[in-house]
Amino acid sequence: MKILIIGGAGYIGSHVAREFLDRGHSVTVFDNLSSGLRGNLFPEAGFIHGDILDYTGLSRASAGFDAVVHLAAFKAVGESMVKPEKYSVNNINGTVNILNAAVEGGIKNIVFSSSAAVFGQPEYIPVDEKHPANPESYYGFTKLEIERFLGWYDKLKGIRFAALRYFNAAGYDIKGRIKGLETNPANLIPVIMEAACGMRETVQIFGSDYDTPDGTGVRDYVHVSDLAIAHAMALEYTSKNDKSITVNLGSETGISVLEIVEAARRITGKPIPATIVGRRAGDPAKLTASSKLAHELLNWTAKYSDLDTLIKTSWEVYKNQQ
Ligand SMILES: NC(=O)c1ccc[n+]([C@@H]2O[C@H](COP(=O)([O-])OP(=O)(O)OC[C@H]3O[C@@H](n4cnc5c(N)ncnc54)[C@H](O)[C@@H]3O)[C@@H](O)[C@H]2O)c1
Repeated sequence: MKILIIGGAGYIGSHVAREFLDRGHSVTVFDNLSSGLRGNLFPEAGFIHGDILDYTGLSRASAGFDAVVHLAAFKAVGESMVKPEKYSVNNINGTVNILNAAVEGGIKNIVFSSSAAVFGQPEYIPVDEKHPANPESYYGFTKLEIERFLGWYDKLKGIRFAALRYFNAAGYDIKGRIKGLETNPANLIPVIMEAACGMRETVQIFGSDYDTPDGTGVRDYVHVSDLAIAHAMALEYTSKNDKSITVNLGSETGISVLEIVEAARRITGKPIPATIVGRRAGDPAKLTASSKLAHELLNWTAKYSDLDTLIKTSWEVYKNQQ
């Protein structure tokens, strides 16, 4: 298939582009490089330097593709609570432009990067797709709204979508082909990696008195190569079955902050100083996914999301920064 990967120069998008190329698809990346990197582009893929907020450029660029993978968004939860207008424009208006360009260009399949942030506080774990969606952040709200837009464009315009609700994406390409560091990372593993290679002094641990085995927060980390594989499987599903899906993508394993810090110390051989600070408002004690539906529909399960693979593949990239 001819696939346009919007946001394909970013952290997850570059892995998704690599996976589609590996499967023999024709790939073009569309990205404004606001956080994406030229170094994340592959010579065998096309590249269009463009912005989803520029409708004319976007609709011109979209012509002739069979499918769109849409990863372009702002994703900093904290910032979204202070600057919601920024998130409304880029995430929501940008997606409306993508949907309208898809309608105009006759593109029938879209894979969308949604997020576990649509759920808000877990009422039970593991969180499955039937769990109520009450986002606690404006970022999560934008993702949920976009899922609703997708639902309407499915009904009214026959666009089939896969909304993939990623849990915590982490790790780097298993074969070491992607080396772009995340821009201003807020996620735990890149922060730990930055501390390991001296790019920051300490890792802040937000709360050590949660109701978890070691008192630190427990989350579900899913390897970015597993996510990339899920995109290819999801597009195959929506295009073959002419049907839209919304699925959780997680490893179904809870890992605590402290377990990650300790594994990183062991694997990197670095001291990685950590400081315990207060809890962050809205952080649940535990959040893990049920990915049963992705397994049933797509035959997808996380293969690379064990703790050591997450850390080892990350360290392969970060160790060069020392
Ligand atoms: N990283 C995670 O753990 C995680 C979890 C859940 C969901 N997501 C979602 O996955 C997607 C990719 O996340 P990521 O971690 O790779 O982030 P990223 O910032 O590395 O990638 C986003 C990409 O989109 C591009 N982009 C942003 N705005 C654009 C615009 N207006 N026009 C064109 N390109 C634009 C950026 O330059 C970048 O290349 C995002 O939609 C994010 O919300 C990420």
